[in-house]
Amino acid sequence: MKLWQGRFDRALDGDADAFNESLSFDQKLIAVDIQASCAHAAMLGECGVLQQKDVDAILGGLGEILDDVNTGKLPIGGAEDVHSFVEGELTRRIGDAGKRLHTARSRNDQVATDMRLYVRQSVNKADALLCALIGTLCDRAEEGLGYILPGFTHLRKAQPINCAQYFNAYSEMFLRDIARFRDLRVRMNVCPLGSAALAGTSYPIDRARTAALLGFEAVSQNALDAVSDRDFVAEYLFCASLAMTHLSRLCEDTILYTSDEFGYFEIPDEYSTGSSIMPQKKNPDLPELVRGKTGRVYGHLMGILTTLKGLPLAYNKDLQEDKEPFFDAEATLFSCLSIYNKLLQKLKLRPDAMERAAGEGFSTATDVADYLAKRGVPFRDAHAATGKLVRYCIETGKTLPALTLDEFLAVHPAFGKDVLEAVKPRASAEARNSVGGSSRKAAQDGIASIRARLKQ
Ligand code: ARG
Repeated sequence: MKLWQGRFDRALDGDADAFNESLSFDQKLIAVDIQASCAHAAMLGECGVLQQKDVDAILGGLGEILDDVNTGKLPIGGAEDVHSFVEGELTRRIGDAGKRLHTARSRNDQVATDMRLYVRQSVNKADALLCALIGTLCDRAEEGLGYILPGFTHLRKAQPINCAQYFNAYSEMFLRDIARFRDLRVRMNVCPLGSAALAGTSYPIDRARTAALLGFEAVSQNALDAVSDRDFVAEYLFCASLAMTHLSRLCEDTILYTSDEFGYFEIPDEYSTGSSIMPQKKNPDLPELVRGKTGRVYGHLMGILTTLKGLPLAYNKDLQEDKEPFFDAEATLFSCLSIYNKLLQKLKLRPDAMERAAGEGFSTATDVADYLAKRGVPFRDAHAATGKLVRYCIETGKTLPALTLDEFLAVHPAFGKDVLEAVKPRASAEARNSVGGSSRKAAQDGIASIRARLKQ
């Protein structure tokens, strides 16, 4: 029997029922639905809307339902949605008191409250997983402090960098993701319960009390808005999308840097896969999957925005479509953050290959130009002289660190013996000691700063 059957002569057509139902997916909300119902019932008792004996029966019954669901004793099914399921089961267990629970409430404010409670938990979990990943990045950065890695622009070797600076870059991105989730948590922590269907309620309820019982900071200020607001779902999906963007970039780097062509890192066997036909293959399936799943999370963000954009006030059933995309997005975000964290903990660093590659591609040419500029040569002239030197290297098959002082002097008279040191990759990275730069000291300060912000 439907909660709303009274007005109808005939039951809902079977296919229509199957199309309309949400219990198959909104059962994930059962714990928060019961939590919100307990707060609602307790408040109704305190305000004298329900008798205390009914409230006691409701709280006892709801607690038992949750226990029975958790232990698998009570299978979930046979109702239109999670709200109908809980109310039906409660009434079956405690009789008339169960039928009083829905006083001064609608499923519209109920589901809006459930979603806020659920998304709030999910924000906390995303926060924790991002913190854990940054912790691993910092550990790997500490190990990388002694190593030099090629830095790229346009995917061409640009300048040598400290390996720790590389890992720190991703920590900065994930720190911003955490800040975004925390900002969302503050904005969304508002209780819609008591908005009822759309217009509020005539019962003498205490909305602030329900909000406090559920850990909300405030009550929503407009009932029409409160029952139809899913901004927090869209914001969550944006926060998740951007975090996935960062993770996907990290994965793209991992795929490239662990290839034979780069070889700076190696994915350990436990996180690599093989080929069914090519026996020699060691494939980066996991980072590829993270990169692929990023598109799926973006899709859910587009989906919710599109669902919301044409809705007339206030509640519309379209809003039921917030759930599956949200659940899929959070599960995807969590599994991607977790698996990449595990892979990163075991990622092997190959310092020799990194340092060798860091010296290729004339990656210290900027240092040559800077060398001249620091000795009074206008930077533009220094740039041109260095370009000539690079051309000379290409023609003769030499690298910049392999040149003799005479070869430098043939291009410009301002060179001195110390240029031979300045063109080494490690010296080049060490020279850039500005805040956030590629020197060991700057990278070490970077790690300290990241760890300090992580604690806040
Ligand atoms: N399953 C519904 C949802 O997810 C619950 C609210 C139903 N409200 C209604 N007026 N039919 O939105």
